Amino acid sequence: MGDARLLRTAQPVTAFDTDALHQLVQDLLDTMRAAQGAGLAAPQIGVDQQVVFFGSNERNPRYPDRPLVPPTVLINPVITPLSDEEASDWEGCLSVPGMRGLVPRWQKIRYTGFDQYGDAIDRVAEGFHARVVQHECDHLWGKLYPMRMRDFTQFGFTEVLFPDISAAEDD
Ligand code: NI
Repeated sequence: MGDARLLRTAQPVTAFDTDALHQLVQDLLDTMRAAQGAGLAAPQIGVDQQVVFFGSNERNPRYPDRPLVPPTVLINPVITPLSDEEASDWEGCLSVPGMRGLVPRWQKIRYTGFDQYGDAIDRVAEGFHARVVQHECDHLWGKLYPMRMRDFTQFGFTEVLFPDISAAEDD
């Protein structure tokens, strides 16, 4: 947080199934897994492209009680809320290490885009799945989760807010 590259609107991907795009996806995966993130966006590793990765086939030790989200590469995404309903829940971010905040998000969304091969993705998601997609895609519009918060009394250090889960984790 504070790096100007996190505040840009990222550029759409124009060429799919290229060596450069596959390498970017691999870099995102490697970085996310090393940091035990729930997702990662290209701007977080300094790349000005509309590419995010989220999800896992295994439970995330940082979010052990959350449902599984299918591992997904999502490129040039478009998010449409499917109702006015919002939900608030705690979020962290690898670009805002050591902190958590309570963030309102659309409860149910449709998201569309492409995978790294150029195949279309078109899904409906709700709850945690919808939250993760909104958080990661926000990185492509230059938004970090504190910029979505409305109540800064619900923002703080993970180790203070959640002393049980923070000992070995910096995010
Ligand atoms: Ni993030």
